[in-house]
Amino acid sequence: MKIKLENNKVFFENKGSKKEIHPFWLRERIDGVNFVDKGTQQRLFDPTTLKKNIEIKNLKLSNEFLEVSFNDGTKTKILIHNILKEFSNVNDIKSIERIKWNSSLKNLNNYEFNNNIFEQKKMYEALINFYKFGFVIFKKVPTENDFLVKFANSIGSVRRTNFGEFFNVKSKPNPNDLAYTSLPLAPHTDNPYRNPVPCIQILHCIENEVKGGYSTLVDGYTVTEELKKDYPDFYKILTEIKVRYQFIDKDIFLENWAEMIQLDEDGNFKQVRFSPRLDFVPLMEKEKLELYYSARNKISELYNSDKFRIEFKLAPGDLLMMDNHRLLHGRTEYNANEGNRFLQGCYIDYDSTEGKLKHLKKKFNYEVLF
Ligand SMILES: [Fe+2]
Repeated sequence: MKIKLENNKVFFENKGSKKEIHPFWLRERIDGVNFVDKGTQQRLFDPTTLKKNIEIKNLKLSNEFLEVSFNDGTKTKILIHNILKEFSNVNDIKSIERIKWNSSLKNLNNYEFNNNIFEQKKMYEALINFYKFGFVIFKKVPTENDFLVKFANSIGSVRRTNFGEFFNVKSKPNPNDLAYTSLPLAPHTDNPYRNPVPCIQILHCIENEVKGGYSTLVDGYTVTEELKKDYPDFYKILTEIKVRYQFIDKDIFLENWAEMIQLDEDGNFKQVRFSPRLDFVPLMEKEKLELYYSARNKISELYNSDKFRIEFKLAPGDLLMMDNHRLLHGRTEYNANEGNRFLQGCYIDYDSTEGKLKHLKKKFNYEVLF
């Protein structure tokens, strides 16, 4: 990648392709105390009020800087490095490559908690691993009631739902969700009926005295890629058909239509939803439904297969942070008469983890996000 000048124009050159940079784009990025607030990096002018026919009067390019003067009497000196950065994705969370994993995964991404961790390099590393693997476990987190809310708010902000700021996971009489029983919970994603679906779930173990009650995780990304490779027709239909997810309680009716495997604008993996107690497939032609049901059965079989699932027991003080758009979670059965099992859960969204990660990157002067 490099910047070149030709006929009083600025060009950006990358892998054999050469594109002119619009003069207005450079004018908009004009630096200096009269134009940009140093602390916030916010503009002190409104670019929509500038004249449109901005032209370059003079240009000077050195190893480090591009100096430009414009026809409205302004001038700027921009670090070449900063221009190139805008054309690369090194600052983008998407540049952190997901690592596919299955039941053979041994590294459970454990990080020991301390009170200052939120501003430490350790948190930066933990968040990078969160984006690589979709989960991370903090150990020795104080087991005070609702400490997880403090934890969540130290990364970003709790995403409050109709269940409140946080929820308690323990068996209770007349539960409104299977999570509040001692029955096994098959791998699922949480709250597919919300719009948007909570991005990250935090589960904090306060007590776990029972023999069973193991936590389970499955990488939805790995399973999706496997399905795409081995069963392309199933993959296709699950990425195309929007199904209805709903949750009805005595005072709320939540509903959202979405694909079981959602792709981004470039056709790449974005999100999985799987909660076979809450999905309603739309009425389609019989043949299409036939294919859809086969596809749903296959992905369910893969999600529930030993090949993809990891199992581990959360100890008091363990705090699991998992990507609810990528991973499925569940738990094995336990006997409530053996003792207490008490977990607290809450949600945060990606702006929390991204915001914290980028803040730490800036703080420690890291060049790239991995
Ligand atoms: Fe859940």
